[in-house]
Amino acid sequence: MDTLFIGQNHIHLDEVDSTNSYAISLLKNVNLTEGTLISAKHQTKGRGQRGNLWDAMAGQNATFSLIVKPAFLNENQLFYLSKCAALALYDVLAYFLNTGHFDIKIKWPNDILVNGKKIAGVLIENVLSGRQLSWSVAGIGLNINQTSFSDGLNATSIKSCTGQDHDIMLAIRYFCTAFEGYYLQLKNKSFNSINENYALFLFGLKSWINVEVEGMPLSLFFEAVTEDGRINLSDRGGNTYLFDVKQIKWLKLTS
Ligand code: BTN
Repeated sequence: MDTLFIGQNHIHLDEVDSTNSYAISLLKNVNLTEGTLISAKHQTKGRGQRGNLWDAMAGQNATFSLIVKPAFLNENQLFYLSKCAALALYDVLAYFLNTGHFDIKIKWPNDILVNGKKIAGVLIENVLSGRQLSWSVAGIGLNINQTSFSDGLNATSIKSCTGQDHDIMLAIRYFCTAFEGYYLQLKNKSFNSINENYALFLFGLKSWINVEVEGMPLSLFFEAVTEDGRINLSDRGGNTYLFDVKQIKWLKLTS
């Protein structure tokens, strides 16, 4: 591993319920070093955002978790970890795919799309000790060699784009190197550079997007993402709104 600490301690499992759940229970029982990587060939109960399942075929995808200790962030800054993970995924995809042919985008908060289809997702979970953050677990699911997906998922993989099989461990190693770079920028308080990069690849930014709020479909203008990770939208009357990920759902992709 070509890194200082991310992924230097690596636990690889053939099968586990979820690498995030495994990491969280390990943290409760064992002293782990920062940067520990837990990867699995197969997850039997991979977890996604909003309580969804993350379904990935055995041996065909990257499913892993990184354990970090971002004690230098306050609780309103934790979304920066999501940004780092999304940017590192962007870099992995830009390495494997020809960016002239494939449009790689970050869909707020941190899904990764290629030509409008989801290729990767991030699930960050924080472990508190009392009210204090002690560890964060960044769980990453990246579709690599799987080429068939359940109907209605609108998903893709690196192989679906290139027609070739790719080395899963190489993708994980590449992610670790890229993530470490962004994480060290954060540690150095280079927030602007992370924010600028994230905004650069954000799907739908500064355009009208279709969303659902409290069951109502709306077309709103995507102004920005706030530092604490909420989406800032405005309507035609000039009213602005802030929503967190639980309050709003994306509808049809339009840009
Ligand atoms: C999403 O819903 O988009 C987030 C998906 C995150 C999936 C990854 S796979 C490795 C890690 N372990 C889990 O149980 N989930 C995350």
